Amino acid sequence: MTLTTPTPATTEISSAAYHAVPEGADPKVVAWVDTIAELTKPERIVWCDGSPQEWDRLTREMVAAGTLIKLNPEHRPYSFLARSNPSDVARVESRTFICSEREEDAGPTNNWVAPAEMRATFSEIFDGSMRGRTMYVMPFSMGPLGSPLAKLGVQVTDSPYVVASMAVMTRMGSEALKLIGEDTEWVAAVHSVGAPLEPGQADVPWPCNDTKYISHFPETREIWSYGSAYGGNAILAKKSFALRIASVLARDEGWLAEHMLLLKVTNPRGRVFHVAAAFPSACGKTNLAMLKPSIPGWKVETIGDDIAWLRPGPDGRLRAINPEAGFFGVAPGTSPKTNETAIETLWGNTIFTNVALREDGDVWWEGLTDKPPAGLTDWQGNPWSPESGTPAAHPNSRFTVAAHQAPSIAETWNDPQGVVVDAIIFGGRRATNVPLVVEARDWEHGVYIGATVSSERTAAAEGAVGELRRDPFAMMPFCGYNMADHWAHWLRVGEGLRSAGNMPRIFQVNWFRKDVDGKFLWPGFAENARVLEWILDRVDGRATARETALGYAPAEGALNVDGLELSDEQVENLFAIDPEAWLNELDDTERFFDTFGDRVPPALREQLKDLRERLAAE
Ligand code: GTP
Ligand code: SPV
Ligand code: MN
Repeated sequence: MTLTTPTPATTEISSAAYHAVPEGADPKVVAWVDTIAELTKPERIVWCDGSPQEWDRLTREMVAAGTLIKLNPEHRPYSFLARSNPSDVARVESRTFICSEREEDAGPTNNWVAPAEMRATFSEIFDGSMRGRTMYVMPFSMGPLGSPLAKLGVQVTDSPYVVASMAVMTRMGSEALKLIGEDTEWVAAVHSVGAPLEPGQADVPWPCNDTKYISHFPETREIWSYGSAYGGNAILAKKSFALRIASVLARDEGWLAEHMLLLKVTNPRGRVFHVAAAFPSACGKTNLAMLKPSIPGWKVETIGDDIAWLRPGPDGRLRAINPEAGFFGVAPGTSPKTNETAIETLWGNTIFTNVALREDGDVWWEGLTDKPPAGLTDWQGNPWSPESGTPAAHPNSRFTVAAHQAPSIAETWNDPQGVVVDAIIFGGRRATNVPLVVEARDWEHGVYIGATVSSERTAAAEGAVGELRRDPFAMMPFCGYNMADHWAHWLRVGEGLRSAGNMPRIFQVNWFRKDVDGKFLWPGFAENARVLEWILDRVDGRATARETALGYAPAEGALNVDGLELSDEQVENLFAIDPEAWLNELDDTERFFDTFGDRVPPALREQLKDLRERLAAE
């Protein structure tokens, strides 16, 4: 919970038309809530205050309804397990829509439907969609309450699971409502699981609908989501607001809304740096955000693990906040060996979704321990053993936990002014081609690197896992406008930073390169600190580099691999550049650029051409 201020109890009454509104609520918010209630016809309306009492009441109700299983408080106090409907386990990119007035403003990488057409559909499917259910009203702030970098929103939902999640993931409740006045901008978000209840009809633990829509109206700053209660489909403050709508606001207002973690790093000499790093979904943001360095003298603290809002400050330097207040992290693979900080964070007050249940009332997932404990129940509620042949936890199973609970959280994570960004990193999951680390030649080259990120698909969204796909800026599913315009916007922001004389340096990393036997070449996890060391020593002007076709790589001996069991050949392979494979990749990049036609900034075409020439010369 983020808000603890005592507020009057919420009022439940049976007629939507006469629900009790918190004192001082902005009349425009109230009128909007009334309009949505008239359409969706809930049985009652509850305005959420964000208090711990409210969270307690909701979780008790969900335990009684079978939506949540209370975990054994001896092992995991105040914690719960939710099992979703097996058809509702990840983001559905095929049902995610950008409903801009003009199709070209959504661009070729987004699904587009004309706003009027989508509204016509919604006036039908949302009609009575909340019948028999409670509609919860959740005012929230993305970013510290009152911060100049923060934005406000109001989400309504008929899912108490979504309320409990939003209470962890955002600053939700009365304090956010108080910040909304007559002239305040706020984003309106409507969410329904699309499962109305007839009088007397019994509910199911995880109501949802086979028909799903996650729709965004960038011009009117609205979000409408139907049919799913899972993650980014339903916690609309997250991907829908903080990335898709916010990226449009950012384009219009001169800042950046990015799929990036945010770190504070202190080097052995006591100098503090801040790093923002973009990786596609389930490619290591939470792990890097909670890094415990393997090398002495370095300290890493967490500011955010998924989304960063970056804005040139009054001094011309790029400042960033984490707009969220919690982590919705991938469970499988999280262990004391890979991410000890996450394990410490999850001691209690956590909602787990789609992980396995132990006999003793605690949780388990693949990778948590080398051997699974006996007597597990899998994520669908069936008895499980290693012979079952299916995973015990769903590959996209997740934990929802407050950010302040992480022992690694930086004191400045709540700083309303944000932190100054010194380095920006782009990464992806690439078995081949992409080296462990290179520094971009300059901002334009860095933007080219961001624009050409590709990565092997993970379980975070529907689709074939492992398939290589383009994921520019790790924003492919999250950019609310034409992706090529996003690149142009990055170039513009760079010009502003350059003229103010303060540009973060840009780097590319890849923890996932494999040898011929398909084994990861780089140990990763805590050892990624060695790569951060080189990156920040570059920023500090003390690390040496050699020029390669792809950018500046660590000079011989500049990357600290002392104590790692890595042969010279393995180190060489981590940085090997195969010109032929790269030239093929560039042909593919050119075809990718061509899908955006003349919206591709000429500077990026120029970068592609220069890179081709550098590779041909190798
Ligand atoms: P979203 O929350 O979906 O945006 O993802 P994320 O980028 O925060 O993903 P997360 O950090 O949870 O990483 C998920 C997967 O990446 C897990 O399976 C990790 O084990 C794996 N991973 C993270 N860091 C490393 C690394 O350094 N090396 C290797 N090999 N795997 C890693
Ligand atoms: C991602 O898929 O990048 C996530 C999880 O962070 S979700 O919030 O479901 O989008
Ligand atoms: Mn993410």
